[in-house]
Amino acid sequence: MVKIFLDTANIDEIREAASWGVLDGVTTNPTLVAKTGRKWSEVIQDILALVDGPISLEVTTTQADEMIKQGRQLAKLHENVVVKIQMTTEGLKAIKALSSEGVKINTTLIFSANQAILAAKAGAKYVSPFIGRLDDMGQDGMQVIREIVPIFRNYEWDCEVLVASIRHPLHVIEAAKLGADIVTLPFDVLKKMTQHALTDVGLKRFLDDWQKVPK
Ligand code: E4P
Repeated sequence: MVKIFLDTANIDEIREAASWGVLDGVTTNPTLVAKTGRKWSEVIQDILALVDGPISLEVTTTQADEMIKQGRQLAKLHENVVVKIQMTTEGLKAIKALSSEGVKINTTLIFSANQAILAAKAGAKYVSPFIGRLDDMGQDGMQVIREIVPIFRNYEWDCEVLVASIRHPLHVIEAAKLGADIVTLPFDVLKKMTQHALTDVGLKRFLDDWQKVPK
């Protein structure tokens, strides 16, 4: 079953999605936290209190030793914290060191299967290919998922494919058809997944007809 994460730092959106019973985890990044206008520590405490599942929190440093230090601090916050590390050579060093200590890592800013292979080999628990940003520049983002999923299956790596930068519901369907482990969605995409015009029309008819039933 494909897991559904919300890609947001907005507490109202997370609370609403959690109430639908379909939320498996949350991914955040500095841009999403900045959008809330709230203090980072308050936002993170709220998310950790609301969701019992993997919560990705991103390091904001670029040198391996600093990433390792920050990653350890983030991991200490809660057992559900997954440390998000950028796909760079410094990031690979940090992934190796932190994953050897048992810290769960989500490698972010992945745009190719080769980057995913290296992140998984370094010990990442999740790789996050950004498909929407590839689509935005005229490349087929889903092609990266088509490549990564069978590669990881071939070697039975303990690393999950987390499809990120999703822009619309068709991305979700395609990712699930390909067997990706997780999709992380903006709230509006999750909401669109619940909707269909025929559902609204059908519901209206049922309610109207119910009024005609003698009681
Ligand atoms: C994933 O973890 C990222 O936060 C996210 O999916 C990036 O998406 P964007 O391209 O919409 O910023």
